[in-house]
Amino acid sequence: MRLKRQKLPRLYTDRLQVRLLEPHEADLMVRFRDENRDHLEPWEPLRRADFFTEGFWEIHLRSTLRDFREGASACFVLLSPSEDEVLGVCNYTNIVRGTFQSCQLGYALAEKHQRKGVMFEALSLTNAYMFDDLGLHRIMAGYLPHNERSGKLLDRLGFEKEGLARKYLKINGRWEDHLLTSLINDP
Ligand SMILES: CC(C)(COP(=O)(O)OP(=O)(O)OC[C@H]1O[C@@H](n2cnc3c(N)ncnc32)[C@H](O)[C@@H]1OP(=O)(O)O)[C@@H](O)C(=O)NCCC(=O)NCCS
Repeated sequence: MRLKRQKLPRLYTDRLQVRLLEPHEADLMVRFRDENRDHLEPWEPLRRADFFTEGFWEIHLRSTLRDFREGASACFVLLSPSEDEVLGVCNYTNIVRGTFQSCQLGYALAEKHQRKGVMFEALSLTNAYMFDDLGLHRIMAGYLPHNERSGKLLDRLGFEKEGLARKYLKINGRWEDHLLTSLINDP
């Protein structure tokens, strides 16, 4: 399904604006990634040096907008209401239509914005958007068994554990087992 005419989503709460970034906003992503380099390293793939540059993010943000319009992904950014700070990201990727109608979710929050319910608030909105506006049936999320903070968040959002996948994702340079969970659109 192509989403050419789908308007770019802008979702709001009192303390957040959640939307896709434009390439000219690359500097906001660089600041978020640079400030949270050590905090996010244990939970993410190894990053190349250019991951922390504006050049990388200008190209990457252009491709995330194209992917959104083509219906392949929805890579959201959590912004402060004044839109001058990235608090975190939540990426819905690998959108598959047909009999599956599913996607995968990954997320990351700035160290200083943890423990305020910010990611829970954002994902409550974006999960509803993926189900109600994009018509998906299932959102899948996997996490490292020792990532208790992530497990608690998914549990609170209603994701159900489905099993353990051995050597599932290459995190920080090592293939790691992951707990697999799903949220099903079951109105
Ligand atoms: C996983 C991650 C997003 C969780 O962040 P978080 O802030 O714990 O998540 P939530 O938004 O659900 O907030 C819950 C916390 O806010 C607290 N909180 C405060 N006000 C709140 C409110 N109004 N509503 C809900 N929770 C609130 C909760 O008590 C809880 O804190 P606690 O765990 O110390 O009790 C974050 O730790 C992170 O980005 N980690 C590194 C990257 C990562 O792990 N990514 C996921 C890979 S699978």
